[in-house]
Amino acid sequence: MRKVTLLIACFALLWVACKKEESTVAVVPDETDPGLLAVKRTLVHLDYNYAPNLPNYLITAGLQPVAIDNAKAALGRVLFYDKSLSRDGRISCASCHEPTRAFSDLMGFSMGVGNQRLERQSMPLANTANFAAHYRALDANGAPPLLWDSRTTSIAEVSRFAITNPHEMGMTLSEWMERIRAKDYYAYLWKKAFGHSTPTEAEALQALGEFVGAISAAGSPFDAAMERHAGNPQFTVTVDSIRVFYYGPIVIPTTRVVPPAGFTLSEFRGMRLFTNHCSSCHSPIRPFQTVFEACNGLSTEYKDQGKGLRTGKAQDNGVFKAASLRNVMLTPPFMHDGRFKTLREVIDFYSTGIQPHPNLHPLLRNADGSPKRFNFSDQDKEDLVSFLKMLTDFRPGGDVRFSDPFRR
Ligand code: HEC
Ligand code: HEC
Repeated sequence: MRKVTLLIACFALLWVACKKEESTVAVVPDETDPGLLAVKRTLVHLDYNYAPNLPNYLITAGLQPVAIDNAKAALGRVLFYDKSLSRDGRISCASCHEPTRAFSDLMGFSMGVGNQRLERQSMPLANTANFAAHYRALDANGAPPLLWDSRTTSIAEVSRFAITNPHEMGMTLSEWMERIRAKDYYAYLWKKAFGHSTPTEAEALQALGEFVGAISAAGSPFDAAMERHAGNPQFTVTVDSIRVFYYGPIVIPTTRVVPPAGFTLSEFRGMRLFTNHCSSCHSPIRPFQTVFEACNGLSTEYKDQGKGLRTGKAQDNGVFKAASLRNVMLTPPFMHDGRFKTLREVIDFYSTGIQPHPNLHPLLRNADGSPKRFNFSDQDKEDLVSFLKMLTDFRPGGDVRFSDPFRR
């Protein structure tokens, strides 16, 4: 029956195509196309411009906006939310990458098919894609390292891990493709994205990458404040002027200080502490980040060795990806194992709790090699949290382009 419908659809298409040749009249979507009807029945409106909107100051600082193919991103969005593509029909990418949680989840260890716990905390998805400029130091191809152990630079490969991991979606790739090919809405979406209706695995993974790559987080209060100063088109904006504003004078006057427009006093003091002690590993402005993975001394002996588990090298033990901390308010619990529930706990750890692990990064050691003790005051801790709050962009969670497209 399906084959017959397909045949009819093919003939109809051919006929429309020939008609077009003759008459050069623009083809309007055929409202009786069964694929289109299936899309309308199953899914909400999908046609958007999915490309991220980068503030000027970030472009000046060397970030490159990613080019997004809208039809592929729309298809990727459907794949991302489609629970029927998992072993038990209950898990999609979005189960562990929830839009309201900056595309991470609240679990310490994420939960996959059959309620199985993973061994690591989910990671937020934003600015995941090819921000060539700031990652060039690490990878000649300009792609960012992905996963807690920097295992790959390809979103398609991460997707493949997630689909086939028995604890995540628990499928084989051929089963996954079979289910995609069996859904009438995919035939239509494929035609729009790839010009034909016979889905291939490489295309499916590419579409997922296109969608994930479109998710950005550049609309935080911090970005708004930066745009107001360094991004002001009336000034000649250079990377240096942004650097000077962001890193600013090292000495913070303790007497009355007037914070620059866009910052409260507490946020401004927090930014100063952050740029002095944290931003080499966590810069929200990626070209200024210099360290992308490190051991930050959570303990002297790690249960999960991170990069060391993958490479088998002792010098990689306890080494994990250092995130940009954009959207950090939405992504508790913290660290690869979700050991800290609040930002305050994280800051208490950096203040007095860094452990003397043999691989502890030099930036977190004193000259004699012992772990640093920042000994932040209560005010310092409050200021750091105020600044970290500024890095959160609450929009993508409510952005219709990145929301669940399935009708309920
Ligand atoms: C069962 C939960 C789960 C599901 C389902 C899942 N993920 Fe993940 N995702 C994770 C976890 C956990 C990590 C970190 C894993 C690690 O580092 O070992 C992660 C990491 C990632 C990263 C790396 C982010 C970064 O900044 O390094 C990307 C990209 C990603 N997932 C995309 C996807 C896509 C696309 C899908 C669907 C095909 C998906 N995930 C399905 C739990 C999940
Ligand atoms: C030498 C590099 C380095 C420095 C300096 C550093 N960190 Fe980290 N940070 C890391 C690494 C690596 C991780 C991930 C560790 C893990 O999960 O095992 C991390 C994790 C975090 C996380 C959790 C992120 C998440 O999504 O789970 C927060 C929050 C954080 N750091 C804040 C800070 C603050 C605040 C400072 C300054 C006081 C700071 N860091 C200094 C390397 C660093």
